[in-house]
Amino acid sequence: MRDKKLIQLYITNMCNSHCKTCGIWKNKERQELQFDDIIKILAAFPDVDYVIGGGEAILHDDIVRILNLLSVGNINYTLLSNCILVGTVCKLVETFSIPSVTISCDGINHNKIRGVEGNLESINMFRKFCITGGIKFKVSYTYSRYNEESFLQDMDMFRNMGLNEIYFCIAQDMDLLMTAESDESFVAKNFEQILDCELISEKDKNHIRSMITGKRRCCTSQNNVHTIYSNGDIVRCQSFKSNIVLGNIKDMTTEEIRLTLNSVNNRGCRFDEECNLLCQRRYD
Ligand SMILES: C[S@@+](CC[C@H](N)C(=O)[O-])C[C@H]1O[C@@H](n2cnc3c(N)ncnc32)[C@H](O)[C@@H]1O
Ligand code: SF4
Ligand code: SF4
Repeated sequence: MRDKKLIQLYITNMCNSHCKTCGIWKNKERQELQFDDIIKILAAFPDVDYVIGGGEAILHDDIVRILNLLSVGNINYTLLSNCILVGTVCKLVETFSIPSVTISCDGINHNKIRGVEGNLESINMFRKFCITGGIKFKVSYTYSRYNEESFLQDMDMFRNMGLNEIYFCIAQDMDLLMTAESDESFVAKNFEQILDCELISEKDKNHIRSMITGKRRCCTSQNNVHTIYSNGDIVRCQSFKSNIVLGNIKDMTTEEIRLTLNSVNNRGCRFDEECNLLCQRRYD
């Protein structure tokens, strides 16, 4: 369990990628958290950790003002990016001294899985930029039917990139990612190769072991990991299993947002047995 809350802001539903595991890029109508609503959230929780994602967060209409707001408020956050617009990401990282950046990379077949030529090369440019500037960055790898076969080569690629740890996700069916329009219900077949890999944390491996044996600890992550979606909805959990809306920040005051997130009190989730959303469950 985290000692501090983590609030994930899906600030935009716009995306410039064409991923096979996520359908957000198919959105036609822009839906974004508004600057004034973000101010309310930060006022309610100035001292927690934030994830700024989406969609592709840097495509938000007001991204410069938002990053400036985070910077001026000395907020601890991680920016997620697909790194397609590598020049813009580098510029924003430099301008706002972004505390932490996580870039997605799905392995040797990344460009194919993401449907974007040159994306892997951009990730490498970003990696070199970070090494040169002494900037911390992480790589997030989403394990899916599209890279299960190339997993060992993918890990070799990460080792050659000088990484000693990756942020590991397992592709799931998620309403928020509109997966019904892309990759549904991936069920991993080869867990052994994951359990043997030193780039994946022991905590994640323990989760995977408990998924295999069915002896999981009850997931209580929703008590301190919160998701606010691009339409302002505070959802109970980013998983499709728990898409229960607790309120919409557009209609809430700062105090109401604070009370709502502080009042989530769940000793165990009823979807526990079926949910393998490792990127959320690692916080339970
Ligand atoms: C939704 S993206 C948003 C940030 C940014 N657009 C990116 O791709 O890094 C956040 C993370 O979700 C991962 N992801 C994609 N499809 C997924 C799925 N079906 N289940 C779980 N995670 C998924 C992505 O690989 C990425 O690391
Ligand atoms: S995973 Fe990220 S880059 Fe890919 S479509 Fe979804 S939001 Fe866009
Ligand atoms: S079990 Fe799944 S749906 Fe339930 S809180 Fe954990 S991650 Fe969310």
